[in-house]
Amino acid sequence: KEHIQIAIDGPASAGKSTVAKLVAKKLNYVYCDTGAMYRAITFEAMAKNISLDDDNELVNLLKKTTISFKPAVPEQLVFINDQDITQAIRQPEVTNNVSTVAAQGGVRQELVKRQQEIADAGSIVMDGRDIGTTVLPNAEIKIFLVASVKERALRRFKENQIKGIDTALDILELEIAERDRKDSTREISPLVQAKDAILVDTTSMNIEGVVQKIMEIINK
Ligand code: C5P
Repeated sequence: KEHIQIAIDGPASAGKSTVAKLVAKKLNYVYCDTGAMYRAITFEAMAKNISLDDDNELVNLLKKTTISFKPAVPEQLVFINDQDITQAIRQPEVTNNVSTVAAQGGVRQELVKRQQEIADAGSIVMDGRDIGTTVLPNAEIKIFLVASVKERALRRFKENQIKGIDTALDILELEIAERDRKDSTREISPLVQAKDAILVDTTSMNIEGVVQKIMEIINK
């Protein structure tokens, strides 16, 4: 097989995108942030006043919408059509609504198709919730990244401070737990560890340590 696929799944704020990006860079693979795609369509639906549980309307919107990534330092940019929404999709209003949109079957079908097309183009590191179970079920490497809710809230809190987002730590903890609950209990492609995924608990690890651990798994 010429294209290698690495799937990294796990709950909210477990550090998936940070380490996935670094692993992709080390291997010179493409990195695909599937959460950004669900966030992008959520942002656009909110801007257009579309009900976030109206699957048909969301799919219609999605069909007229391109979601694209542009490499940039320090982080890749996310575009919806020609609009740079990199910052906008990380705002709390989007974060707290994205699980509703991501539970819609038509939306998932369309985004999974786009994700598989991106993967067809070359070797890839893809992160999300259903990559190992649904998007890339034949991925060579599957990692399930977890950390305690307390630790994840703390990491998000520190990230938010840099971005100027001001949400209290205990609120973040509740929001993260609620998003996990919604993502894990939805009917279609819920967040669940794939049978052949390797569990990595990052609660007491730093970013470098997690990247090193994943590289060891890959090189085995
Ligand atoms: O990874 P991130 O936190 O940016 O994902 C935002 C949301 O998008 C998740 O909480 C989940 O509802 C949805 N998502 C998903 N499937 C994926 C990636 C993200 O349902 N593969």
